Amino acid sequence: MIKILKIILLLLFAPAVLYGTSVDEVITIETKNTVMIFTGHPGEKFLFQFYGDKVNDVSQVIRSASGMNEEAYPAFGIECSKEKALQVTHPDGNMSADLFFKSVEKIKIDDNISLTKVVLFDNAYAFQVTVNYKTYFQEDIVEIWTDILNEGTGPVTLFKFASCYIPVRSFDPWLTHFHGAWGDEFNLIEEKLERGVKVIKNRTGIRNTQCDNPSFMLSLDGKSTEENGDIIAGSLEWTGNYKISFDMDEKYKVNIISGINEDASQYILERGNVFHTPKFILTYSNKGKGLASRNIHRWAREYKIKDGTSERMILLNSWEGVYFDITEDKILKMMDDFAKLGGELFVMDDGWFGDKYPRNDGTSSLGDWIVSPQKLPNGLDPLIKRAEENGLKFGIWLEPEMICDKSELFEQHPDWIVHQPNRTTLKGRGKSEMLLDMSNPVVQDFVYHVVHDLLVKYPKIAYIKWDANHFISNYGSTFLDQDKQSHLYIEYHLGLQKTWERILASHPDIVMQASSSGGGRVTYGHLQYFHEFWTSDNTDALSRLNIQWGTSHFFPANAMASHVSASPNHQTNREIPLKFRFDVAMTGRLGMEMRPDDLTPEEQNFAKGAIETYKSIRSIVQQGDLYRIIAPNDGCGIASLMYVSPEKDRGVFFAFSLSNNLRYKLPPIKLQGLSPNMKYKIAEINNTGIGSKLSAYNEIFTGEFLMNTGIQISMNKVCQSIVVELVEVP
Ligand code: GLA
Repeated sequence: MIKILKIILLLLFAPAVLYGTSVDEVITIETKNTVMIFTGHPGEKFLFQFYGDKVNDVSQVIRSASGMNEEAYPAFGIECSKEKALQVTHPDGNMSADLFFKSVEKIKIDDNISLTKVVLFDNAYAFQVTVNYKTYFQEDIVEIWTDILNEGTGPVTLFKFASCYIPVRSFDPWLTHFHGAWGDEFNLIEEKLERGVKVIKNRTGIRNTQCDNPSFMLSLDGKSTEENGDIIAGSLEWTGNYKISFDMDEKYKVNIISGINEDASQYILERGNVFHTPKFILTYSNKGKGLASRNIHRWAREYKIKDGTSERMILLNSWEGVYFDITEDKILKMMDDFAKLGGELFVMDDGWFGDKYPRNDGTSSLGDWIVSPQKLPNGLDPLIKRAEENGLKFGIWLEPEMICDKSELFEQHPDWIVHQPNRTTLKGRGKSEMLLDMSNPVVQDFVYHVVHDLLVKYPKIAYIKWDANHFISNYGSTFLDQDKQSHLYIEYHLGLQKTWERILASHPDIVMQASSSGGGRVTYGHLQYFHEFWTSDNTDALSRLNIQWGTSHFFPANAMASHVSASPNHQTNREIPLKFRFDVAMTGRLGMEMRPDDLTPEEQNFAKGAIETYKSIRSIVQQGDLYRIIAPNDGCGIASLMYVSPEKDRGVFFAFSLSNNLRYKLPPIKLQGLSPNMKYKIAEINNTGIGSKLSAYNEIFTGEFLMNTGIQISMNKVCQSIVVELVEVP
């Protein structure tokens, strides 16, 4: 009788048992300071429980019932009301998936990296999802992605395919994300999450970070600061359209769903095939945004950015110096002048190519990657030779994915473009620019050869600025099958990535910059192929402070191209002193974007000194830990940040005055990231020789004093700036 009662009870409460706290299998994904906890049991649901600070005894999370107890990768079809991670239609028209835990496998990759693979299955269909969790222990980073396998009777259609799904509970969640436009990228927005769905997404197809970025920080206990707040930070490693949703319900629960944007992208997965979703990185910080950024920067330099731990060269890019007006004389002169300033790499930007149609402006020539005989009658050889004589490396600008209607390439291959055959193709820049269809292997091969052939012909080319100034306007591919037109947004990028891989395999030493109308390609999807990104076409130093501030939340200084340009600035017309321009550029990967002979002899002298100074602090800026101290939009008229070497024996502090404070004495600025017990000698560097603005010159202080009390600086006029070097002394 009791047995029968038990069975009745079990049947009555079956769903509760299924979704309940069965702790037979507790799966932990651990890093040095964080843990992600799941529960699962073969044949039952795989449940997400917790992500946060390391818990000594993880069973506490289960016993206290504080875990989330939520499906870790929920699919549409059962309980349909909520946003899900996956949506699939099977060959028989069934639109549901119901996934259960099958197995877990832990693989140790090396002392720092481990991979946990959790296999989920559907008991009605031969359909399987593997959720992968790759941990970088020291950096507190988890990379999450899924492999979706169709072993059924025919093709399935994926309508939604998130990389990662994380549920959290919070009384007062605040979301930090980034919004911008051309010339004004990466503005930080911090807003309270309210009930409903907040979405960050992109659908340009190509230039995916000009307006938003697939990166966020979610503060779980109210608005966070640089040093305080429990934060989940995440960023998607994908070069195309993305979508990150924050679905908040009335019960203090926020589901974070992130991955490729599925809009107009349903994907037919043939029988026997696997769809790999892009990786999504997560870190958890219990010490505010600053720590979250530093975790990501460290991981990025060590594991993601191309050659992320190598020193970056100081370069001069020709764009704002001569624009399209390239001649041999002008290029040689710029190289000679830059070499005298101590530069290391010269990059010839747009305007050097095109035979039948020389590239004089944006209206022609993309696709015709031949040196213009009109502009450079002696070819590239004399330029490369002069660079070498000057001790400079030589780099060149390319926009290989694009084509102009006025080009020999278009005359030969009008069918290679992304277009709809029965409609007029909308053109971009110069009313001429269109997009090559990178889903087509023939086009991929062409693009590969654009780069490969150039590098074979000119093996001394050391650097490529890879631009992409168009987007998908007329969505359509004459290469893809009719029923797979919706694959274009994705196949374009798989084709592009394959091409980059092929280029890098043939030319492993080439250094590449991702540019896209300025900062349109700033993601870890790109940075696994690129050494750096062009941060913005806006080179005004005051604007850059804000743009670089936002960018620094996810991307480290060694990848952030930051150039000194002419005054008045070409984008804003604002006049800014050279020192300020240099100091701002020195907080990232320093470069120049002007003709050095536009500087007066005194200014050239200063530039030479500044370049030398940057060389002496480059390792700290490029490989050190970033501490953001005062935000440019804090309203106090000052912006300030510093870098500290990993050993904490050296640091470099920057402060910028953003307004006139004529009658005020500034409060001391508290430094961060130093060792309290070490002693540091502080000295102003990169000064103009007209008197220090640091009150204590060459004095020695403890790290504790510098962090608790701070340093006294005086800056009372807009566009003054100061750089202070800290060196440990015994
Ligand atoms: C884009 C880039 C610029 C420059 C031009 C050249 O706009 O962002 O830096 O290279 O193209 O046409």
